[in-house]
Amino acid sequence: MAIDIEKDNEGNSYVPVPVGKFELEVELISDIFLKIDSKFIKFKNKGDTLEGEKLDYFIQKSLKSIFIELDSVQPFMEWLADKKKAVIDEMVEEVGEEHRELVEKRENIKEKVYDTFTDMEMDSGVAEILQSQVKEFIIEVKEIDLSQAVLAKMLKHSSTIADHSLNTANVAVFMAMVLGHGNYQVLEDIYMGALFHDYAKLKVPIEVLENKQNMKYNQAIQDHPAKGAKAVKKLDNIREPVVKIVEQHHEQFNGNGYPRGIKEEEIFGPAMIVAMANIFDNTVMENKNKTKKEKYRTAIKVLEYDKGKQFDPEMVEKVLVALKLAYGEYYIPPSN
Ligand SMILES: [Fe+2]
Repeated sequence: MAIDIEKDNEGNSYVPVPVGKFELEVELISDIFLKIDSKFIKFKNKGDTLEGEKLDYFIQKSLKSIFIELDSVQPFMEWLADKKKAVIDEMVEEVGEEHRELVEKRENIKEKVYDTFTDMEMDSGVAEILQSQVKEFIIEVKEIDLSQAVLAKMLKHSSTIADHSLNTANVAVFMAMVLGHGNYQVLEDIYMGALFHDYAKLKVPIEVLENKQNMKYNQAIQDHPAKGAKAVKKLDNIREPVVKIVEQHHEQFNGNGYPRGIKEEEIFGPAMIVAMANIFDNTVMENKNKTKKEKYRTAIKVLEYDKGKQFDPEMVEKVLVALKLAYGEYYIPPSN
């Protein structure tokens, strides 16, 4: 296998390892380094543990690789392969030997780190590449049993909720990539969070949900983020970020949201992304009788209007440029 080697000014050699290859909460077998401004900085010592939160943070900052000193590369790669095998074996034990192939496939998908374009000027070319990456990602993520199960459940209750949840998930992934998220795990969390965001509405009778005049309507709406988070938490294989997204998808940047009224940085970034995608799709749905162009234009205007109110102004700014370039194209209907 050919390996990339990078050298620092003192002639030390380092090898990049994609962040997606790391298993969390395990004792590291060698020192690991981060490359910051073309310098290699020791991030963790041999024997330290790599916590999920720390790694999530770096992933969200679009860090794609962690570096290992050249001397330690071979044992490190073997160690990584062992850890991966242990994760797969553990999962197979849970779901049964007949699903081994599926479990392996899923682990392999997770290692994939998508290209991101945070520092690039957004133009129609970049927007187009992002769209095709969203499509590619969605094909993979749809294979996960959990997303199929929740969709089936939604369709049984209300096709409107199912359509809206899928659209929101697709748009949220596009927005996330625009904002620099390229790691499969982060994108999957955002996709799942969006898919589940209105999960609690599945417990609300349709006659209440579709009638704003109904006495129980307001209460059901007020309660759905917290109730949804509680219900989702009880499901198998749900990650903490997904629960957080469900709980916070109606919080607002200015603190006027619900259920907790938290504001600005207190709001979980991925939840803010899903909040934007949610409003975007709601607007598109409300305008479904207008032309395609008109629908997207209105939805973009709504995001623009809420910049700094409901939504983080910096996020809106970046997302709007890409949406304007992509609208009509990037929007993937659930029937696809
Ligand atoms: Fe909601």
